[in-house]
Amino acid sequence: MESVQAIKQRFGIIGNDPKLNRAIEKAIQVAPTDISVLVTGESGVGKESIPKIIHQLSHRKHGKYIAVNCGAIPEGTIDSELFGHEKGAFTGATSTRSGYFEVADGGTIFLDEVGELPLTTQVRLLRVLENGEFIKVGSSKVQKTDVRIVAATNVNMFEAIKKEKFREDLYYRLSTIDINLPPLRERKEDIHLLFRKFASDFALKYKMPTVKLAEDAVNLLLKYRWNGNIRQLRNVAEQLSVLEHNRTIDAVTLQNYLPSTGSNLPAVVSKSKSESDFSSEREILYKVLFDMKSDLNDLKKLTMELMKNGSASDVQKENEHLIEKIYGDSNSDDLEETIEDLEVLAISENSESKEQNTESVEDLYHFAEEIEEEETLSLQDKELELIKKSLERHNGKRKLAAKELGISERTLYRKIKQYDL
Ligand SMILES: Nc1ncnc2c1ncn2[C@@H]1O[C@H](COP(=O)(O)OP(=O)(O)OP(=O)(O)O)[C@@H](O)[C@H]1O
Ligand SMILES: [Mg+2]
Repeated sequence: MESVQAIKQRFGIIGNDPKLNRAIEKAIQVAPTDISVLVTGESGVGKESIPKIIHQLSHRKHGKYIAVNCGAIPEGTIDSELFGHEKGAFTGATSTRSGYFEVADGGTIFLDEVGELPLTTQVRLLRVLENGEFIKVGSSKVQKTDVRIVAATNVNMFEAIKKEKFREDLYYRLSTIDINLPPLRERKEDIHLLFRKFASDFALKYKMPTVKLAEDAVNLLLKYRWNGNIRQLRNVAEQLSVLEHNRTIDAVTLQNYLPSTGSNLPAVVSKSKSESDFSSEREILYKVLFDMKSDLNDLKKLTMELMKNGSASDVQKENEHLIEKIYGDSNSDDLEETIEDLEVLAISENSESKEQNTESVEDLYHFAEEIEEEETLSLQDKELELIKKSLERHNGKRKLAAKELGISERTLYRKIKQYDL
């Protein structure tokens, strides 16, 4: 049996936390069996490597491994995706199609965000789990398949069961073995280790010296909540690696990259709400934050380009477009101010003053951070506004809006009901 250390190396898993090691050990132990496994843990803790380990260490390793994101497939097509359909089963079904459970016969299926499965699909899934039987949509012929299922969720399944959104019998069938991955804030020993690994990866990638943390910055790193866990830590390491000229990062600098986890953040906002609302709200918040991060990165890239070449007016137009993307059109005063800032930046490009440009990049970054902070202040308003805008943009087409928002159609449907849209 391969050791936990060897597996970590093979799958690029960093850390020595006892709970992490226990999770990997469990994966190694259950791999040779066909027992179903449920991987649990907050968003960004690294759930996706567990099913890969299980598949690779099982006798199924030469069979197919299919990862399905249950939250991303619309309710109307998920049965057909998973179990296939007969020709003519519904409008548009012009030929017979095999589903994942047929294709992955002899292999492993990873059902990510399994809590998002519609109840009707849950019934079909239960049947496959119990006796390997399934029926294509629009067919009456029972088929057999031999598939190992590993599922994952970052929502509280007991809450979902209580609300009758998830079948209790299916939950117990799926979670014969539960593998839980600890949140980063409980892996104090690993945080700095992970940071150093990411910093060295990004230094290589961007061909720059590795960023290092001063002692006070390390302390901050350890105290921070890391709601987005390892994904968020990696993000922060990447931003620091790209943006900071001074390669030794102190706490004051680091603080700029850590969204405040004060009373305005979702964990506290949602206390009064049920936990599953919290998870979808969190989904949206993360989406907003990550989109902003990527907008910020676009801005940064653009500014760098601006420093090097490019006509000022073209770049300004692009900047305006970007700012609009961040702000929407809700706040034209602020937008104008931002454009003014950007004009200053464009002028400084003409004057070819590098120093000024660098300062402007920093200003811009702080400005964008401020936007980010403001945004988190009005989470619910923002969510409502986002949904409304997206629906408007897509003429009420929920499928397209959900895609744009990065949430499942079902979550969007719940939100529409909740806000009475
Ligand atoms: N121990 C680790 N060492 C190195 N990288 C890791 C580790 N754990 C997670 N990561 C990285 O962090 C990111 C997030 O991990 P992953 O996608 O598995 O999260 P997740 O638990 O599936 O989150 P979600 O519930 O949001 O889907 C990935 O880029 C992954 O490679
Ligand atoms: Mg995942």
